[in-house]
Amino acid sequence: MKTKHYPLLFVILFFLSSCGGAPPPKLQVPPEYKAGQTQFHTICSNCHGPDALSKGSFKAPKLIDAEYLPGNFSDDDIRDTINNGTDKMPSQRGKFNKKQIDEIIKYLRYSQKAAGLSEESEEDSEEEE
Ligand code: HEC
Repeated sequence: MKTKHYPLLFVILFFLSSCGGAPPPKLQVPPEYKAGQTQFHTICSNCHGPDALSKGSFKAPKLIDAEYLPGNFSDDDIRDTINNGTDKMPSQRGKFNKKQIDEIIKYLRYSQKAAGLSEESEEDSEEEE
């Protein structure tokens, strides 16, 4: 896809998302995370909620949670979840290309940082006497 067509695409996505789907995301992200935020909002938000916070009636887990920080749930784990789904999450294979998945992951990592989550890393916190 040529970058030239992106403004039109955004307008279309905006209209699509305004009828049904999740309310718009609230987190203000720096420009380099916008693409991922937009991608996330096209499909993932329908189940995980805007900003991946799963507030209210969204059925899928909140991804802005220590449980999903890189040490507990790696980028590859996220990729695998998107492509293969789980028992409860349908596979999203083919809905995003590799680059878009990378953007989504980048955006999720930014959001986790922005939320001030810290990893309960066993290696670091364990006291060996
Ligand atoms: C149709 C609803 C739906 C959509 C769309 C969806 N998810 Fe999920 N997702 C779920 C549910 C339900 C779970 C909980 C799965 C479980 O516990 O096995 C889940 C779990 C996850 C998990 C955690 C998996 C685990 O093993 O703990 C991640 C990460 C995730 N989703 C990311 C995404 C991303 C990124 C997208 C967009 C590309 C997305 N999901 C789209 C419903 C959805």
